[in-house]
Amino acid sequence: MSNRLEAAQKLADNLFGTLHGLLLPEVICDRGEGIYLFDQNGKRYIDFSGGPHVVSIGHGNQRVREAMLAQMNKVSFFFRSFWLNEPLLALAERIIKVSPPNFTLCQFCNSGSEANETAIKIARQYHVERGKLEKYLVISRWQGYHGMTLGALSASGHTLRRSKFEPLLQQWPKIGSPLCYRCPYDLDYPSCNIKCAQELDEIINQVGPQYVSAFIAESIGGAGTAGMVPVPEYYPMIREICDKHDVLFIDDEVIAGFGRTGKWFGIEHWGVSPDMITSAKGMTGGYTPMAVVIIDQKIGQVFNEKGASFIHAFTMEGNPVSAAACLAVLDIIEKEGLVERSARLGEYFFQRGGEKLSHHPVVGDIRGKGLLMGIELVKNKGTKEPFNPALHVANRLQQVAMEKGVMGYPATGFDNGVRGDALLVSPPFIVTEDEIDTAFDLLDEALTDFEKEFL
Ligand SMILES: Cc1ncc(COP(=O)(O)O)c(C=O)c1O
Repeated sequence: MSNRLEAAQKLADNLFGTLHGLLLPEVICDRGEGIYLFDQNGKRYIDFSGGPHVVSIGHGNQRVREAMLAQMNKVSFFFRSFWLNEPLLALAERIIKVSPPNFTLCQFCNSGSEANETAIKIARQYHVERGKLEKYLVISRWQGYHGMTLGALSASGHTLRRSKFEPLLQQWPKIGSPLCYRCPYDLDYPSCNIKCAQELDEIINQVGPQYVSAFIAESIGGAGTAGMVPVPEYYPMIREICDKHDVLFIDDEVIAGFGRTGKWFGIEHWGVSPDMITSAKGMTGGYTPMAVVIIDQKIGQVFNEKGASFIHAFTMEGNPVSAAACLAVLDIIEKEGLVERSARLGEYFFQRGGEKLSHHPVVGDIRGKGLLMGIELVKNKGTKEPFNPALHVANRLQQVAMEKGVMGYPATGFDNGVRGDALLVSPPFIVTEDEIDTAFDLLDEALTDFEKEFL
């Protein structure tokens, strides 16, 4: 064992968290360059999971490093209540420029979970300022994922992530996810009449619209539904139902935002405008923690009219070095046309993914949009029977793929919150067609080895 690996393992002895009870990864991530990560032995891995879903412009970008260093050479931290923050003002302006037209305001925070917590609180205070004191419930979807903090987890419908914390969570109502491959209502599109959207209307009527503050959903599914793309009618119906009941629509774009699906925001594929957008991963490119809630002007107007400030703040929010990094990342995404590239390459990505992987008996479904793909693994393709969750097959496939030199992200719970496995892949937007081919060749090999183990 190398000295560095030994040192890393010793260090991990003092780390609390997901390493406990799982196998310690045997590799140290040493460095990154473009779409590649390298371990301590110099072995190269295609970062086909992009982080997961974080690395938009690639690793080690010099312009971002220089922007961060330039800001650090000036000042790295000052308290947001006492000073205006120049890079943050520029970042807010840049974000508003690429957001749908009704969005005029940004509230910054440090992670996707914080962004969703923040949006839930903005919704509540918005209703309070309007005198609608009863409105507090946040409706969401089973299998949706919005983060690990208690409010974000309360809105998440991922049983595995919730179960041990259930008594701490708000028991907010949930509707089924619009995942046609595993329709929660056992219906077929289009004869289903989009029951998964109508369900929102029904549940709001049942609990009483006077109590409902917001509906939160990922525009395109991530960890809990592996690239789920709702049918075209879905979000226009959701928008109408929210309007009818004076319920705010919070669109979680933590994964899908800032170009991942071939548009700046995933919801644009439906031509629908939500009331708040939360985002994090891709806007940072992985260079720094940062997240944002982008807010409809109608919400800002209510706060203005009431002379109310939002009762909320994090000490570290909008850190100037992080703002400078995100500004550089967005600059690169915009100047290099990476959103358009994600859309264009997305076509190739899905074509090649289908050609290389769909013949495998364990590949039940390939879904997603742009450069976000979920590869659902099934024990039986005909019946869609999932693997036994105790086998942790998604984690195992991730390990096998990594041995082959390609990274994916294991996801679970599509069937009932616990059963159902997938590998999510979401490469940096700078990936080339040749690199896509190589990555799918490696995944093809990984699936062949995986099948020897599990079929
Ligand atoms: C859709 C979605 N929302 C929220 C989160 C939480 O973000 P974070 O891990 O940055 O707190 C995630 C994380 O994977 C996510 O995928």
